[in-house]
Amino acid sequence: MKKNVMTTLIEKATEAQSNAHAPYSGFQVGAAVLSSDGDIFAGCNVENAAYPLGQCAEATAIGMMVAKGGKALDGVVIMSPNDEFCFPCGGCRQKIAEFAGDAVPVIMATKTGDTFTTTVGELLPHAFRYSQPEKKAS
Ligand code: THU
Repeated sequence: MKKNVMTTLIEKATEAQSNAHAPYSGFQVGAAVLSSDGDIFAGCNVENAAYPLGQCAEATAIGMMVAKGGKALDGVVIMSPNDEFCFPCGGCRQKIAEFAGDAVPVIMATKTGDTFTTTVGELLPHAFRYSQPEKKAS
C-alpha cells in the first residue's frame, strides 16, 4: 500500500474513532477500509447497554463500504485508543476475510504513531470462504 493512502486511512479511522459509542468499555476504536475501487470508508465501535449487541469498528467500516456498493477490500487500518496495537477480534478477522484475499494488508496504528502491518492470511489462516472475494459474483 502506498504511504499516502495509509496516511489517509489512518486519518479517516482517527476521525471515526472520535465518534465511537463506547460508554461501557471506554475503549474507542476506529477503522478504515480501502475498497478495490479506491474509495475509503471509516467506522467506529458502537456499543450497547445489552453488551453482546455491540459492534466493532471494523464491522462498521465494512458495512459502510457494502452500503455504497463496494465489493472487495484492498486494505484495512485499525486505530487503537492508546499506545498498544489493537488487533482485530476473531469475528472481525472473519468479516474482513469475507471481502479480502489473504494478501491484503491489515495495518494496526497507535496514538503514538506506531504502525504494524500484517495480512489477512496471517491473521486468519485457512479462512472459511465460499470463494475468493475478488472472484465473487456481484
Ligand atoms: N473493538 C473494536 O471495535 N475493534 C477491535 O478490533 C477490538 C475491539 C471494540 C469492541 C468493544 O466495543 C471495545 O472495543 C472493547 O472490546
